[in-house]
Amino acid sequence: MSLHTIQLIEGARNFVEFAEIRSDENVLLVSEYTTDYLVLETLSAEFKAAAADLCIIYMDPAHGLKRKVPSMVLGAWNESDVMIDLLTHTLLHGDQAWKMILERKIRYYSMLAMARPQVLATGARFPPALFREIADKAYQKARQSKEVRVTDVRGTDVTAEIDHEQGVWDVPGRVFPGGVICLEPVWKAEGIIYFDIFTGFGRTTQPIKLTIEENTCTSIEGGIESEWLRDHTNVENGKNFAEVAFGLNPWMRLNIDDDPTKTHIEAHRHAGVAHMALGRADGTRGVVVDAATHIDGTIVSPTVYLDDEIVVDRGKLKLLDDPEIHELAKHYGDPKTLLSVSMF
Ligand SMILES: [Fe+2]
Repeated sequence: MSLHTIQLIEGARNFVEFAEIRSDENVLLVSEYTTDYLVLETLSAEFKAAAADLCIIYMDPAHGLKRKVPSMVLGAWNESDVMIDLLTHTLLHGDQAWKMILERKIRYYSMLAMARPQVLATGARFPPALFREIADKAYQKARQSKEVRVTDVRGTDVTAEIDHEQGVWDVPGRVFPGGVICLEPVWKAEGIIYFDIFTGFGRTTQPIKLTIEENTCTSIEGGIESEWLRDHTNVENGKNFAEVAFGLNPWMRLNIDDDPTKTHIEAHRHAGVAHMALGRADGTRGVVVDAATHIDGTIVSPTVYLDDEIVVDRGKLKLLDDPEIHELAKHYGDPKTLLSVSMF
């Protein structure tokens, strides 16, 4: 899909709205040498128009991978009111970012590995206020629940306790486009998981079966990919069961086979998709369980329970049928069209 600036403007404006940029604020936009130029140009124009001033930095992607902020970036960041990160490996997974957020009170927003034109032209265009309402309802329900359970037709059945102290919530959120509710870290989990897709390679040639006991993955069975997974999780805390999450944004694409990053971060935000992770676990104030790896597995058509209530029924997010959500959606157009996952 070849896109033009005009198709990205609405998504870029939504990012400015999402980040609540004020006209007296200085915005720092940090990108990589490889960041898509169309994304950078469109976002720059919109952030520049909304803010007092805008500064753009290109940095080496390797710094993000090492979770180390270069001193030049840190200097500019210190002088900013808002930091926008378009990096493949977000700095949010490092201590320095959390120091800036919590101590220096500098707002931080990341596109994670989604700084692509296709994302600005689809999921980013979903009205932020409507997304906020969907997410608030999911968030509220999770806060009232003790457990999350994920099942599927192949035999996935895993239950995890929800951590109300440090659980990570993507709302009001530091990630744009918003699209997922994450329950992380997970301290007590038991069960069996069959994943469709893994970070790093995508679809598996045959189902991989994971056994989770006392919050640790004790067995990985399956085809050639299971060897890869065993290898990549063979580090300290690498088999920690870190996260349970499900998607909330009906306009995010379910782009499993054409995700150049192979992170599937975009697909994770598609309404009704579940993902779970082994390895590092983040909390609302930074990394809680550290590991050199964090590998997400995805289930495209799960059933998700919060306590006894089904919130995702075989891949369909029940909140998209909520009458209050439909009422609010009328402000933006036809609710049925707006809340349809087949929009893109
Ligand atoms: Fe994850």
